[in-house]
Amino acid sequence: MVYGESKLGRTTSKRLQRLRKENTPITMLTCYDSSFARLLDSCGIDCILVGDSLGMVVQGGKDTLSVSLSDMEYHTRIVAGSVARAFVVADMPFGSYQTRPEETFANAARLIQAGAQMVKLEGGGWVCDTISYLVQRDIPVCGHVGLTPQSVHRLGGYAVQGKGEDAQRVLEEAKKIEDAGAQLLVLEAIPSELATEITQSVSIPTIGIGAGSGTSGQVLVLHDLLGVSGGNSPKFVRNFMEGSSSISDAICRYISSVQSRSFPGKEHEYPR
Ligand code: KIV
Repeated sequence: MVYGESKLGRTTSKRLQRLRKENTPITMLTCYDSSFARLLDSCGIDCILVGDSLGMVVQGGKDTLSVSLSDMEYHTRIVAGSVARAFVVADMPFGSYQTRPEETFANAARLIQAGAQMVKLEGGGWVCDTISYLVQRDIPVCGHVGLTPQSVHRLGGYAVQGKGEDAQRVLEEAKKIEDAGAQLLVLEAIPSELATEITQSVSIPTIGIGAGSGTSGQVLVLHDLLGVSGGNSPKFVRNFMEGSSSISDAICRYISSVQSRSFPGKEHEYPR
C-alpha cells in the first residue's frame, strides 16, 4: 500500500477542490464504456460521470427511470477499470436511494466497489439526511439540483428550474446539500445568474449543465457533444463534432473550450 498522491496519479476530490480554489474550470463528461473512457482519460478530462442518462443514450429509453442498480454497477466497473487519471462519479439510479438508509448505503457501496470514487444523487432538501448518512460512512457524495431528470413525471417534463421567485428555493437546497456533507454539486438547467450565485455561496465545486459559465466546471452528455443523441438537443448543447477532424479532436476541443471559458457561451444560457 502506498500513501500520498502522485502528480500523475488518479484525480481525487481534494484535487477538484484545489481546482475550484484556483478558479481553474473543472471538465466533466458522461461516459459508459471502456473505449470512450480511455479516450476521455487520454484527452485529459478531469472527471467522468457514469450517468443514468445511459438509459436514454445507450439503452434507448424515453427517460432515465428504468435504469437499474445492476446497469449502473456494470457500466461503472467498465469505465473505472479503463481510466488511469480521471475522477469517476457514478449516478445512483431512480429507486436506489429512496429506501431505508441501510439499503441506500448497500446500494451506494456497490457502485464504490465497482470503482466509483463518488456517487451522485438527485434532489433537494429531502436527500440531505441520506447524504449525511452516506458521507458519515465514507461514501463521498455529489448532489444534483435544478432540473433533476428523475423527477420528470412530477415536473411534467424537462423544464428549466429556478426561474423568478423559484431561485431562492434552489439556492437554499444547494446550501443544505453542502451542509449535509456533499463534496461536489451538479447544477442542471437553471438561469446562469442563479448558478453563479450558488457557486459563490457554497465552498464545494459546482458543475454546470445548462447553467452558464459562472460555475466551477462543466458537464455534458458525451453523445450530445458528438451530435449522435438524435432528436432536438437542449439549448445548452454544442455539437463539438462540427468543425472537428475526429472524435478525439472534438473531445479535446470541448476540454479546452471549458478551460478557456469559451464554452458555454451566452447562446447556451437561460435567463432569470
Ligand atoms: O445522467 C447524467 O448524464 C447526468 C448529467 C445530465 C449531469 O446526470
